[in-house]
Amino acid sequence: MITDALARAAALDFVLALRRRWANTVFPRARFEYEAANGAQADALPAYRWFAWLERGAQQMLWRAVGDAVRAGERSIAAPAAPATVTLDPGLELPAWYTGCDIHVQPGGVWRDDEAALIYELGAKLVMLGENDDYRFHRLFVDTAVPHRAYRRIVDFGCGFGKSTWPFKAAYPEAEVIGLDLSAPCVRLAARRAGERGLSVHFRQANAVASGLAAGSADLVTSTMLVHELPVEQIERLFAEAVRVLAPGGLLRFLDFQRTGDAFRDFAMLGHGSRNNEPFMPLMMAADLPAMAARAGLAHARWVAFDERSGGRLAELAWPERSEWHFPWAVLEAEKPA
Ligand SMILES: C[S@@+](CC[C@H](N)C(=O)[O-])C[C@H]1O[C@@H](n2cnc3c(N)ncnc32)[C@H](O)[C@@H]1O
Repeated sequence: MITDALARAAALDFVLALRRRWANTVFPRARFEYEAANGAQADALPAYRWFAWLERGAQQMLWRAVGDAVRAGERSIAAPAAPATVTLDPGLELPAWYTGCDIHVQPGGVWRDDEAALIYELGAKLVMLGENDDYRFHRLFVDTAVPHRAYRRIVDFGCGFGKSTWPFKAAYPEAEVIGLDLSAPCVRLAARRAGERGLSVHFRQANAVASGLAAGSADLVTSTMLVHELPVEQIERLFAEAVRVLAPGGLLRFLDFQRTGDAFRDFAMLGHGSRNNEPFMPLMMAADLPAMAARAGLAHARWVAFDERSGGRLAELAWPERSEWHFPWAVLEAEKPA
């Protein structure tokens, strides 16, 4: 007899296997057809159509399978465990651009209730094809994209459920580490999980563009996977806020996406923006963020590539060859003049 628990586990396994197949087999086949067709419209080619259709369909299946799994188990977030803490802002108005879109096709987004954050937490593992279950990707960002210094205060903008924030505390136990996110359930879950790890991190519900942190109080501001979710004018505001919050000589490190110059891959990435409900991502990819950072008052702004299979941060904006579908990660580096 197939029990409910077995059916739920099978659904998760199926979605993960399907996504791996989509990335490892369908994408290379689509590239093969594209190259054989010598510059034809990629979206007219059969394998690309399969790739695009499967991407959206597998994502919808993912949230359904993950939602069923979460609803059968831990449905609410327990209080934060010491030594982690959380501050909520019940009066915070969530921007319409944020609530108006089911980001990543997750029904209801990541902000509505406890289930939304728990579903996001489990879903993130399947989205990363099971390769970030131990959050190795985020540790690699901390270890390779951030210079080793004695930081006093580190601020992580758009921290989600905390997987980008905890590794900073683990790497810099002497620093005060703060994670900010618009989503109340996400910061509550982040604090809960930080406490379970014995990490003294403070999480706050806040809009990163108006963080409420004291001017000049941080010597490192970071974000991972946030910037492409913001409309361009919000990115301008984010840089202004980073400059305000940073102390002179402080560093900025934002992990996000960049164009690779590989026409097929860039085309697939822009399509991913619409298939995965990330409406602002193509606009961010077209914008000149180093110029924006410079206008905000940051110095030495530049992108470098980041590849999780090649040790993390790379020396320039060039990625190693990989045949499978994967994200064109890059780190925006800048500093506030001393
Ligand atoms: C893709 S998640 C990344 C989370 C985390 N940094 C990570 O790497 O796992 C983006 C997060 O940014 C948050 N977010 C989006 N806009 C924001 C804003 N203006 N201020 C604070 N958080 C924001 C979302 O709620 C979401 O949790």
